[in-house]
Amino acid sequence: MRLLVCGGAGFIGSTFTRQRLREFADEVTVLDKLTYAGREENFHDFAEDPRFRFVRGGIEDPAAVASAIAAGAPEAIVNFAAETHVDRSIAEPDAFVSTHALGTYVLLEAAREHGLRYLQVSTDEVYGSIEKGTFAEESPLRPSSPYSATKTGADLLVQSYFHTYGLPAVICRGSNNYGPYQYPEKLIPLMILNALHGDPLPVYGDGMQVRNWIHSTDFARAIGHVLAHGAPGEVYNAGGPDEEANMVVVRRIIELTGASESQIDHVSDRPGHDRRYSLSSEKVRALGWSPQVRFEEGLAETVAWYRDNAWWWEPIRSGDYRGYYERQYGRSLG
Ligand code: NAD
Ligand code: DAU
Repeated sequence: MRLLVCGGAGFIGSTFTRQRLREFADEVTVLDKLTYAGREENFHDFAEDPRFRFVRGGIEDPAAVASAIAAGAPEAIVNFAAETHVDRSIAEPDAFVSTHALGTYVLLEAAREHGLRYLQVSTDEVYGSIEKGTFAEESPLRPSSPYSATKTGADLLVQSYFHTYGLPAVICRGSNNYGPYQYPEKLIPLMILNALHGDPLPVYGDGMQVRNWIHSTDFARAIGHVLAHGAPGEVYNAGGPDEEANMVVVRRIIELTGASESQIDHVSDRPGHDRRYSLSSEKVRALGWSPQVRFEEGLAETVAWYRDNAWWWEPIRSGDYRGYYERQYGRSLG
């Protein structure tokens, strides 16, 4: 297929692009604004592939979207473009509203105008927190943060374009991703890099919040599967095979890096912090997808990747990220 991948310079979007070029022989045009989280370094191993092209621009800019469509003549749009960090949405929600609401609207209009299929990449956070059991696709939407509320708004807009205009649109909601190329503001890469540097490991509250971990290659494959086999207008959850409390994850990272338990630092909790996420993925499993990477194995590989790829994270850790870290955690990185 010829795909327009919006947000393809980020963590999961670049993983998806790599997978489509290597395993599926697709042609991919990436449209990305290159915010702090979007990195051309993420194209390092496919930048020269003649089936890949990159257009820099925001999804909320109709001219940028039009030039990406003209460049790649896509058959489908896959939209990863988003502001993705919950803590940043609490501190500064503006960009979350414009990218998720306006940006999604501009892409939907472009899909309608050009007769393209559309896949919206979404999140389990739209369902809110669940103490027991799992969320299915028809569970009520109860987002807690500005991040998840604006992602929910985007999902509803996508569904409205299916119902109102018959746009062949699908939504794929993932649980917490981890793996190579994840920006170190997120729990797992933050803890790995702090552990390797001897920095404190900032655990929010009691650390007993539970997340349903999925390797980014498994989520990328689920998105490709939904694009190929999903029914227009439908939502598909893609959850990982394992759930873990944050403290368990942090202790595994300490073991894998040889860091010390004394680095654990219980800091103030995140406002409105969701206690547990858990997704039922029966619907996408019925289409033939299942996650391949167990958390224990994937986490060990991820720690090894960060240990071996300082070229990727050094410019981040010595750049603007330092200022973000100080504002968020009230201390400097070592
Ligand atoms: P990321 O922050 O690593 O990447 C986001 C990408 O979007 C970056 O390349 C950034 O430059 C780009 N971007 C941001 N605003 C843009 C705009 N206005 N126009 C064009 N590009 C823009 O995020 P990620 O973790 O790879 O997440 C990708 C998608 O997957 C998001 O939609 C997110 O909500 C969803 N998701 C993420 C997870 C997770 O655990 N990371 C889980 C489920 C769903
Ligand atoms: O569930 C899917 C979502 O997962 C995605 O939609 C989001 O884009 C993605 O950021 C992620 O959201 P979380 O808020 O769950 O991820 P984060 O890595 O920020 O936090 C994971 C857990 O770890 C959460 O309970 C908060 C906790 N945490 C996080 C950080 C950054 C800490 O205890 N300390 C930290 O320093």
